[in-house]
Amino acid sequence: MQFEDFWYVVALSQELKPNAVLSRTVLGEWLAIFRGDNGEAVALQDRCLHRNSRLSRGNVRQGMLSCPYHGWVYDKQGKVVSVPSEGDDHFNPLIEQIDIGSEECTTKAYRHKRCAKKYETREQEGYVYVRLAANPSEEFQPFSMPYYGKPGWETVRVINHFQNTVINCAENFIDIPHTVSVHPGIFRTSRKQKLEMTVERKNGAVLVKYQKETNNLGWYARFLNPKKNEIKHTDSFYMPNVTSVEYNMGNRRRLFITSQSIPETEDSTLVYTDVTFNYGIWNKIARPFVRWTAQKIIRQDIEALAIQGEAIKKYGTQFANTPADTIHVFVESIFNQIARKKDPRILPNRSVRVSFWV
Ligand code: FES
Ligand SMILES: [Fe+2]
Repeated sequence: MQFEDFWYVVALSQELKPNAVLSRTVLGEWLAIFRGDNGEAVALQDRCLHRNSRLSRGNVRQGMLSCPYHGWVYDKQGKVVSVPSEGDDHFNPLIEQIDIGSEECTTKAYRHKRCAKKYETREQEGYVYVRLAANPSEEFQPFSMPYYGKPGWETVRVINHFQNTVINCAENFIDIPHTVSVHPGIFRTSRKQKLEMTVERKNGAVLVKYQKETNNLGWYARFLNPKKNEIKHTDSFYMPNVTSVEYNMGNRRRLFITSQSIPETEDSTLVYTDVTFNYGIWNKIARPFVRWTAQKIIRQDIEALAIQGEAIKKYGTQFANTPADTIHVFVESIFNQIARKKDPRILPNRSVRVSFWV
């Protein structure tokens, strides 16, 4: 198993317009993403076969991508279908004999080696996904976003760039102790309250259940939880890059914050966050507030993570963990397994109960 075996979000479906090409980086690989003539998302290596210009700077017409330099045209298979300098000789059988056929380019007309590197794509729940491994160790599926598009539910979607690694981003999204110092007032206020959690590692996931959490969710808790019911709060991490936070406030009011952290390079991560909620009659009115609050909280995290990222770059990752950091230890054990090309699901199941104060 390797990180390349998984699906990574590269765009919102609505961002990928028919005549557009997007430039993305996933696990250090440069991608040019566009829609082919059948509307399907296409991901090619962002390098022209001719003289290495960047295809993502080119143009798309009728589902064909043309290079900005000498105008070679690529179709949805990544096949070169036009070379302006060759004119009509482009399909000359003599050229065909010189070049060696490749798997992808086997039809008669294209039986030369002019085929850009192409990656698998998927489209699901309004996201475009790419997978880098052509032969993955296993057929994983893109993560299914909870209640996306379901009746009675609203989703606010935000995209943010973090200067830190996927693992530190993912850990931040399910880290409670930082909320009182990074998001004071808005999200949670320090009350020296004792919380208990059960942290479980199993099957490539970390599942955290909080106990004794009541009303410490900032000003808008007044609307969402007027009766001060016990809030059922669970956080989870799913290999290799998804975190999900769920608040269940009784009265059928629930909130999910699901983040997919996309590894661009060593210290650059693009995070797609869905805030999906069921606030009954408040649903529509809540949208702008939810967006504003989510974006404000995330901006504070971006700053905190950029500062942490700087020091990690200089001094590495030697940490002094507390019991509250058990989540991080488990998440890192999963991540490190994949980094070693091993399956984290073979790690022994663990479950610990931890108390901490916020
Ligand atoms: S570099 Fe792309 S066509 Fe020449
Ligand atoms: Fe945060």
